[in-house]
Amino acid sequence: MPRPVSPGHPLPEGFLMGASTSAHQIEGNNHASDWWALEHRPGTFVTEPSGDAADSWHRWPEDMDLLSELGFNAYRFSIEWARIEPEPGRVSRAALLHYRDMVRGALERGLQPVVTLHHFTSPRWFTERGGWSAPEATELFAGYARTVLPVLAEGVRYVATINEPNMIALMHTLLRAARPEDRGAGTEGAAAHVARALPDAQVTEALVAAHRAARAVLKEALPALRVGWTVANQVYQAQPGAEEATAAHAHPREDVFLEAARGDDWVGVQSYTRTRVGPEGPLPVPEGAETTLTGWEYYPQALAEAIRHTAAVTGPGVPVLVTENGIATADDRRRVAYTAAALAGLAETLREGVDVRGYLHWSALDNYEWGTYGPTFGLIAVDPETFARTPKPSARWLGALARSGRLPADGEAGHEGGTGARGPAVAPGPAQATSGR
Ligand code: BGC
Repeated sequence: MPRPVSPGHPLPEGFLMGASTSAHQIEGNNHASDWWALEHRPGTFVTEPSGDAADSWHRWPEDMDLLSELGFNAYRFSIEWARIEPEPGRVSRAALLHYRDMVRGALERGLQPVVTLHHFTSPRWFTERGGWSAPEATELFAGYARTVLPVLAEGVRYVATINEPNMIALMHTLLRAARPEDRGAGTEGAAAHVARALPDAQVTEALVAAHRAARAVLKEALPALRVGWTVANQVYQAQPGAEEATAAHAHPREDVFLEAARGDDWVGVQSYTRTRVGPEGPLPVPEGAETTLTGWEYYPQALAEAIRHTAAVTGPGVPVLVTENGIATADDRRRVAYTAAALAGLAETLREGVDVRGYLHWSALDNYEWGTYGPTFGLIAVDPETFARTPKPSARWLGALARSGRLPADGEAGHEGGTGARGPAVAPGPAQATSGR
């Protein structure tokens, strides 16, 4: 018996539906950045350098053409500080014009640009001076925000100052303390080490200060700009008896960054999976749970939980934009199933009255996943030799959904778009797992 198809949840007026990328992960040849330096240093966790990435530095018009043709109305991308200010105080006018053209190009194609100023990478000189732990970090970042005003003045509405500050502060701890035995993502030891590591407290403070300083610069010059930042949502789930341990675990790793978003124009939710926490700390993914190419538990329900948690911590008046949600998989049908279930959860949060303004899937393209090209998150495949782009069925499915102006209802998830890509409404599977995220 075919199941009756429910009409799905209508999207609020002006809801953004699109996809996300970051400069370093797709542009290629980001020579002046600290990540490029890290990729070419022996003995790190990096397994391959970014190289040409997806060559989006040259091919961004094609990327935007595809996103617009697929049916999306928004594109989140980042602009690269290391290209704009490759040496301290030396601003590349060409790089500024490049990003100005990208903003114009997005608007011309009907894509609302959501622009991230800092997505994990910094200029090499900034990091050599001590990066986020240097006393002048706030001032330098605020100066960069001032430098990029001409790019944002071209009609940008949404700006994210810093992507996943909680991951930056965590990376700081991990890179400083990296011991050979902790390397080798995927081993249980490494995952447990990452799960227990604490974001550096000084860097956390510096990032909050830098966010506030940049926001002040942006709002003073362009008051209509909606400024926020994006946080990696871990969806910490307390196991019985571990409520206090979970709250204590979550605060420095996530909630302190959400609290800093109070008073912002919006906050970015970035959700992939969940982390169960027991009285002794985070629990590993148990054997038998479905995992993705990054080793994370397949758990699309995480998105709704992340949205609810974020809204609860920031309080009313801070709209949510889902700025990342997706799955690393070679099986595109799992991407459709995952996304459909995640969106059905998002629809629930809208019904509950949460002010969600958009959904930007991670990622538009298969890209450089911080040390490796292995995990493929893209809606669009990229040939590493020719850079030819090929939209996957999931891209057509999600684009058709965006055009329809509706979100999948629970029970019909994965059956939209007529692409042949099918998936169940809710992920199968044992709900017992966690990730090393
Ligand atoms: C980051 C992206 C990354 C994605 C998947 C987020 O932490 O913002 O740069 O590729 O998750 O790992």
